[in-house]
Amino acid sequence: YKSTFRASELELQRSGAPGTPPAPQDLVFGKFFTDHMLTVQWDRERGWGRPRIGPFQELRLHPASSALHYAVELFEGLKAFRGDDDKIRLFRPELNMERMQRSARRVCLPEFDAQELLECIRALVRLEGRWVPRDPQSSLYIRPTFIGTEPTLGVSPPGRALLFVLLCPVGPYFSGGFGPIRLLADPQHVRAWPGGAGHCKLGGNYGPCLELQQAARARGCQQVLWLHGPEQHLTEVGTMNLFVFWERPDGEQELVTPPLDGLILPGVTRQSLLELARRWGEFEVREAPLAMGAVLGALRAGRLREMFGAGTACVVCPVGEILYQDQLLSVPTMDNGAKVTTRFLRELSDIQYGRVPSPWAQPV
Ligand code: COI
Repeated sequence: YKSTFRASELELQRSGAPGTPPAPQDLVFGKFFTDHMLTVQWDRERGWGRPRIGPFQELRLHPASSALHYAVELFEGLKAFRGDDDKIRLFRPELNMERMQRSARRVCLPEFDAQELLECIRALVRLEGRWVPRDPQSSLYIRPTFIGTEPTLGVSPPGRALLFVLLCPVGPYFSGGFGPIRLLADPQHVRAWPGGAGHCKLGGNYGPCLELQQAARARGCQQVLWLHGPEQHLTEVGTMNLFVFWERPDGEQELVTPPLDGLILPGVTRQSLLELARRWGEFEVREAPLAMGAVLGALRAGRLREMFGAGTACVVCPVGEILYQDQLLSVPTMDNGAKVTTRFLRELSDIQYGRVPSPWAQPV
């Protein structure tokens, strides 16, 4: 039984039909894929097979595969950036590998050595180097995916699984650029709950959010502000973590994001912004619950300065309005120059594109 696969055993089959990377201005998030993908098979009897980089192609799956019936599925999202020096760097990939292992435990997908997967991903990105855009707004989005392929309908831990990695050249996540978004806050719907799996990056957390996302669209909002519990705690924005920069009643400025209490996806961008802000040391930085009442109070008193979402796909996304109980609340993020929001964007981009040296950006 092999308890992990090894990057040293990578097999490579080159694509016979390499494609043409789109121009940066034509990129649409998640629509274009590179020429190759990584796949690794696992089964209960033999453990892990050899990792394989081969042509990008359809999967063949047994129609009873547990990923399709019981959402035995997880994914990750990270990026590779091409710097002005032409070097390609991954941003804190080990954090994604660790989260992937935690997600796997939740759906009883097997363990593997995270370093080995990271080495395989590096090899794939190096092979596909020409697909990493030469553009300071674009990058290569890396989508590791892990699915149960158990071919029986019994609800049990999968005896077979497939890990694969896709690559997509991407531009800015929001086609409209860096503009404030309007959120729908509807306490009738929850994304995650205590004891649930909201802290794992499982596909099963995303599909059930689509209905409210669509309802938000229909009401002129771009994203959902996910509330939870009797105090209507603000938890996440769409598929992003949430940050508020405000003045406390005692006049102190602080940055607040909800704590990792099981309802919150432990975002790599979230963690990085917290670490950056603590390094600045210019204001209080807290991981604390944000109740709707406290946010409304701060808005009314003019103490709320900025609100934004944070995630790998968009980096940061300013919030301009919240539709809550048929009232459109105005959030003054842009009126305040989105100073903290844009400083985060600038400092993270400087690191990601190698303009400022940092151990967070690792050459492939
Ligand atoms: C992110 O990186 O912000 C996401 O979670 C988006 C992804 C689900 C497309």
